[in-house]
Amino acid sequence: MIYLDNAATSYPKPPEVIDAVRNAMENIGGNPGRGGHAGALAGGKIIENCREKAAEYLGAEKPEQVVFCFNCTDALNTAIRGTLHEGDEVIVSHAEHNAVMRPLMGYHDAGKITLRILPPEANGLLSPDTVRAAINGKTALCILCHASNVTGILQPAREIAAVCHAQGVPLLLDAAQTAGTEDIAAVNADMIALPGHKGLLGPMGTGLLCLRHGMLPRPLREGGTGSVSESLRQPAMLPDRYESGTANLPGIAGLNAGLDFVMRHGSAIREYEHTLASRLRNGLKNIHGVTVYGADHAPQTAVISFNVGTMESGEAADALNRQNIALRGGLHCAPSIHAWLGTTQNGAVRASIGPFNTEQDIDALLLAVQHLSQT
Ligand code: ALA
Repeated sequence: MIYLDNAATSYPKPPEVIDAVRNAMENIGGNPGRGGHAGALAGGKIIENCREKAAEYLGAEKPEQVVFCFNCTDALNTAIRGTLHEGDEVIVSHAEHNAVMRPLMGYHDAGKITLRILPPEANGLLSPDTVRAAINGKTALCILCHASNVTGILQPAREIAAVCHAQGVPLLLDAAQTAGTEDIAAVNADMIALPGHKGLLGPMGTGLLCLRHGMLPRPLREGGTGSVSESLRQPAMLPDRYESGTANLPGIAGLNAGLDFVMRHGSAIREYEHTLASRLRNGLKNIHGVTVYGADHAPQTAVISFNVGTMESGEAADALNRQNIALRGGLHCAPSIHAWLGTTQNGAVRASIGPFNTEQDIDALLLAVQHLSQT
């Protein structure tokens, strides 16, 4: 199997991630924060170690500003639902995933918020000037998809954060497609939501919300935290305020090892993936009848969407899957960006590259698309 669906979840995982999950399940008998015996303490130590590492990676001043979530959607929901009040206005880019749009549309349809979807420039980039012009006295939150899960187009997030800060509006960064490859800390966002199982190479069921600059959304869930147990009320302190119920220790142990891998390799992962992405993009463009989406003059991650003639994207993805190439067709839970691309009807076939792909993988996909385009 040639795996090119890393935007959905990264695969394979580094062996040390699998070892860490196994070690947590095999050798750690205890619930972190719920007991003073050796197993509970050992589990707690892994969680705090991972939190410290993630804080360093994300540029948080203190480890407790990093909150463990179940996935990026969970982190986004915490940030969105916990921040907004009735009467607020929210601005978002045209490229948001349904993890952002669905919670917002729920509030919008109930008449609770005003939602402004900002149009991009012709190259798919949201101009900081457009953001500046959209902000008004009611704007309570700006949400930005750092890089589209369909086109890979990477937004000028740092400049947009500066515009938001100059006008006193917090920026929530959806780093679902950039965690592990781009410099997220440099964006200086106020809240960052990210998955543990994509670019950070950890297991599914892990995600992070990083709260910076004093952001303190209301928690989505309340319950036992293993702390302040004499109180019937949710503790206010971080990270306990958000971490009710038993943690996903095996998942966090794996994420801890994934973060180690990513931080050890630094920008080499991005550079490697970009080389393969250029090979794929150029190769696809040379195949007659293939349409490649995205923009030539915008920074991009290693995600490339395309269509083969007028073939329905699910059908094309299935045909390629039958040749043992794993890709994702359809609308990728991101209808807004497909509307912008004009692919709402047919969707697109998406190839997303990870650190373990090779030139041979790319060439095998190109050959298979070439054959498909001739059928
Ligand atoms: N959001 C993930 C994707 O783009 C699952 O495939």
